[in-house]
Amino acid sequence: MERLQKVIAEAGVASRRKAEELILEGRVQVNGKEVKELGVKVGGSDIVTVDGKQITREEKEYYLLYKPRGVVSTSHDERYRKTVVDLIETNARIYPVGRLDYDTTGLLLLTNDGKFSQMLTHPKNEIDKVYIAKIRGIIDGKAIHALEDGVEIDGIKTAKAKVKLRKKDLQTNTSIVEITIHEGKNHQVKKMFESVGYEVLKLKRERVGFLTLENLQSGEYRKLSPKEVKKLYDLATLKKTK
Ligand code: URA
Repeated sequence: MERLQKVIAEAGVASRRKAEELILEGRVQVNGKEVKELGVKVGGSDIVTVDGKQITREEKEYYLLYKPRGVVSTSHDERYRKTVVDLIETNARIYPVGRLDYDTTGLLLLTNDGKFSQMLTHPKNEIDKVYIAKIRGIIDGKAIHALEDGVEIDGIKTAKAKVKLRKKDLQTNTSIVEITIHEGKNHQVKKMFESVGYEVLKLKRERVGFLTLENLQSGEYRKLSPKEVKKLYDLATLKKTK
């Protein structure tokens, strides 16, 4: 069951505030009966009309995209660049769960389920996000420990992270580092490396929770199964109560 104003807003009829006004003005009916107070909840089988016109309720959709480089993680870009939503064939009003930078590749979830999106992005739910960073220079143990302990970016200390050196290449003077975090501050990984003196040359997100990019090529996507969606909800709830 969901709040009536939320259902109206999610159907794209009005903003949540405007939907509240519509209710208070007596312009909304549920199963043919006028509802004039806020706080009423409706289920999937209830018929909601606004000014006599039935609203169409959107099914919740969940996608896992292998984001390519050069695509923006929003639903609309003012500069008309290609967005991650453009890559997915659907009429649902989906949006990305969190963000990957324009030049970052890898696993990105998209949905029209606000609760799901909030749950996955909230750091207290501690959903692991695993990134592979190619950095300039050969990373040393001191920097790895600092990243693991938490470093200061934009005046705030990052939470503990897991860091593994996957490969170092003395010839090109680069290192490949795996870093696992559960926060999602703006440009977090790049800023974390920057704070210990390394520039990120390439960044890819390989995993979110138990989800990986298995069987997908860059630019491809798939729907999450209902089982996977439930498992993610369970994972977040479990972490919250631990
Ligand atoms: N951290 C970054 O710096 N960039 C991303 O795209 C994701 C995490």
